[in-house]
Amino acid sequence: MVLSMDRWIGKVAVVTGASSGIGAAIAERLVKEGLKVAGLARRDDRLEDLAKKLSSQKGIFLPIKTDISKESDILNAFKKIKEQLGPIHILVNNAGIVPPGSNILEGNIDAWTNIFEVNVIGLCIATREAIKDMKANNVNGHIIHINSILGHQVIQFKNMSLYPATKFAVTALAETLRLELGNQKSKIKITNVSPGLVDTEIIGAAKESPAFKEIIANQAILFPEDIADGVVYALSTPPHVQIQELTIRPVTEPKF
Ligand SMILES: NC(=O)c1ccc[n+]([C@@H]2O[C@H](COP(=O)([O-])OP(=O)(O)OC[C@H]3O[C@@H](n4cnc5c(N)ncnc54)[C@H](OP(=O)(O)O)[C@@H]3O)[C@@H](O)[C@H]2O)c1
Repeated sequence: MVLSMDRWIGKVAVVTGASSGIGAAIAERLVKEGLKVAGLARRDDRLEDLAKKLSSQKGIFLPIKTDISKESDILNAFKKIKEQLGPIHILVNNAGIVPPGSNILEGNIDAWTNIFEVNVIGLCIATREAIKDMKANNVNGHIIHINSILGHQVIQFKNMSLYPATKFAVTALAETLRLELGNQKSKIKITNVSPGLVDTEIIGAAKESPAFKEIIANQAILFPEDIADGVVYALSTPPHVQIQELTIRPVTEPKF
């Protein structure tokens, strides 16, 4: 199998949650590969900083302030992308949260609704809009969901209770989409990328804990660039090859 990013050079990729962590690393890598990347997130100051950082690279970075939990924001973002960059070829559904108060025993419905709106419903809306545009332009594009190992198994993590449920939903949604696309004989690819623990802001206050310091000392953690490498691998496969699931874990498993 010959791996190459050549067919994506100059093409349009959308990365949700591009203001930090894994999304920022994926956006940066795709711009360096020569793609036109629209980065969506709420913190537009972070997106603007990334745009400045990438201004002399091969590709283009277009920051678009978007709340992925709001359909109107997503529709406006996709309109802007089509007008300013052109037909969409790649969508990386990366935006995700673990909001405080989402536990089952003490949680509240606002937190529960919010985590599903961002991690699941927003992903569905962005996917629908991207595929609509790919079909309108006869683009055999690629949809990538940034899932989690917690989308395949529920393991002990503090304050995580609804998070695995949203990621299990993402696993099911990737396969449902694969069936829907297959029924239409579409050549659009769908890849589910499932990382283990990655050093990003989503870890939150736990970063200050002794357990986390031990994880770092034991190198039991991945970095956002490792996941960007995985995304580029899936994108680099020839048109007839589809990476269905890519699980990326640190060699030493973290202990909490
Ligand atoms: N870190 C890990 O250990 C790990 C492991 C497996 C999977 N993941 C997954 O990786 C993805 C990225 O997370 P990360 O680890 O890189 O954490 P992160 O640094 O906190 O990044 C999360 C991103 O999602 C965006 N986001 C959150 N709510 C949003 C909203 N309402 N609208 C638009 N964007 C929103 C954030 O942007 P704004 O706040 O600026 O909106 C940010 O860019 C998530 O789906 C997460 O579940 C992470």
